[in-house]
Amino acid sequence: MTVFRSLTRVLALLWAGAACAEPVALDPGDFDEFDAAQVQAGWLLFYDPVLSGNKNISCATCHHPKFATSDGLSLGLGEGGIGLGRARVADSNNLPEQRIPRNSPALFNLGHRAVTVMFHDGRIEVDPTRKSGLRTPLEDEMAEGFASLLSAQTMFPVLSADEMAGHYQENDVSQAVRQGRITGDGGAWDIIAKRVDAIAAYRALFAAFDAGVAGGDPVTFIDVSDAIAAFVATEWRAYDTAFDRALRGGAPLPEPAAQGQGLFFGAAGCSGCHSGALLSDQGFHAMATPQLGPGKAARFESHQRDDGRFRVTGAAADAFAFRTPMLRNVTRTGPWGHAGAHSDLADFVKFHADPVLATYAPQATLPDLSTAVADWAVLEDAGATAAIQMAYQPRPVALNDADISNILAFLDALTDDASIAGRLGVPDAVPSGLAVDR
Ligand code: HEC
Ligand code: HEC
Repeated sequence: MTVFRSLTRVLALLWAGAACAEPVALDPGDFDEFDAAQVQAGWLLFYDPVLSGNKNISCATCHHPKFATSDGLSLGLGEGGIGLGRARVADSNNLPEQRIPRNSPALFNLGHRAVTVMFHDGRIEVDPTRKSGLRTPLEDEMAEGFASLLSAQTMFPVLSADEMAGHYQENDVSQAVRQGRITGDGGAWDIIAKRVDAIAAYRALFAAFDAGVAGGDPVTFIDVSDAIAAFVATEWRAYDTAFDRALRGGAPLPEPAAQGQGLFFGAAGCSGCHSGALLSDQGFHAMATPQLGPGKAARFESHQRDDGRFRVTGAAADAFAFRTPMLRNVTRTGPWGHAGAHSDLADFVKFHADPVLATYAPQATLPDLSTAVADWAVLEDAGATAAIQMAYQPRPVALNDADISNILAFLDALTDDASIAGRLGVPDAVPSGLAVDR
C-alpha cells in the first residue's frame, strides 16, 4: 500500500511537472526610470492622509513597509480605523461599515513593464482596443492621459467609501462620490486635486518637473496619480534576491532552497502559473482559496461570495478565479490568499497545492469589528463552498512535509530586504501637516 501510494505520488508529481517553465531572473532594465522630483512628490502623497475624504487614512495605512507593503491583516479596516497593522482598531465614534473585502496586496514590482493587470480580479487592465488603452470599472467615464496602468489604479481607492472616501455626508469627497460626480469640475478627483494644489510645498515639488505647473497650471488628479505611480514603481522594485542573483551567475542557492526551486519549477508544478521573470502568468485561476468576510456583492445583491474574475468578464470559466500573484518577498506579506484566509504560509502552500475546502480550519488575522457581517458565512454554507470547490480546475499535487519546507526555503530566497525597507522609506512628515502612519 505504501509503495502504491508513493508510486501514485511520483506519477502525480511527474504529470504536474509536465507543463513547467524555466526560471528567469528579473532584469532591472525592465523598469522605467522617473524624475526624482516626481518620485518625491509621489512619496509624500502616498503617506499623506490629505487624499482621503476625512483626512484620516493614507495609502500607506494599508500598504506599509512595516508589513512589507501590505497591512499584516487578513482583511483590513479602512476609513474609520485607528492604528496600523495588527494594532489597528475600529474607531467607536466613526465605525467602519464593514471590513475591506479583500486582502491588501503587496506593491512590489508593479512598475515592471510586463505587468498588465491590477487587483485580485484584474478589473483594471491594459486593453489596446479601448480609447484610454485601459479597461476599468469606469469604462468610458475614465479620464484619459494616465502615464500607466499603475497610475490609473490610484483613481480608485480614493473613491471607495470604505477605503478612503468615508461615508455619505461626512465630507465633500464622499458626497461627490455618492452623487455620482467623479470626473470633471467639482467631481471627487477634482476636489482631492484642489486640496493638493492648495499646499505650497506640493506645488513647488510638481513645478520642479512639470512645466505646466511651473507656468501656473493647477495640479490635477492625473498629476497626483502619475506621481504616486512613479513612486510605487521606483520605491518597491524587488530584483536583488538570492534567487535572482543565482540566475545572474552569482552564488547558487543553498539547500534546502535549491531543492525547493527544483520542486517549484518541476514536480510541484508551481511554475505552470507562477511563470516568467515576475513568477506570475498575469492570468486567472480558480484555486479553491477559502473565502471569508463581506465578499463582493453588487449593491442590489446580499451574498458574501467573491466571484473573482467572473465579476469582470461574466464568463462561467472565470468563476472564483483570481490573479496569479507575483512572489518576490512573499514570505513577508502574509496573511496569504485573496481573502487572507491563511496566516501560516506552510499551511497555505499545502492547501494551495491540493485544496480541499472541507479540511480548512479558520486561521485568519482579523481586527474586532462589531458591525462586521458573520466572517465565515460562505464556508458555513455547504452550497456556496461546493461551488468554490467545483470551480477548481488544476491538477492537485500532494506535497509531503519535506517538500513543503523545501518550497518555503525557496520562497524565502525570493526576498529582497532593501526593497522591503524601500529606497526613501517612511517620511518624517508630509506637506499637509497631517499625522504619518509609522
Ligand atoms: C483601506 C485599505 C487600503 C487603502 C487605504 C489603499 N489600498 Fe491599495 N489596495 C487595498 C486592497 C484591499 C487592494 C486589493 C483590492 C482588490 O483586489 O479588489 C488594493 C490594491 C492596490 C493596488 C493593486 C495591487 C495589485 O497587485 O494589483 C495598488 C497599486 C494599490 N492598492 C495602491 C494604493 C494606493 C496608491 C493607495 C492610495 C491612493 C491605496 N492603495 C490605498 C487596500 C488599500
Ligand atoms: C493553476 C495555477 C497555479 C499553480 C499551479 C500554483 N499557483 Fe500559487 N497561486 C495561484 C493563484 C491564482 C493564486 C491566488 C489565489 C487566491 O488568492 O485565491 C496563488 C497564490 C499563491 C500564493 C499566495 C500569494 C499571496 O500573496 O497571497 C503563494 C505563496 C503561491 N501561490 C505559491 C505557489 C506554490 C508554491 C505553488 C506550487 C506548489 C503554486 N503556487 C502553484 C495560481 C497557481
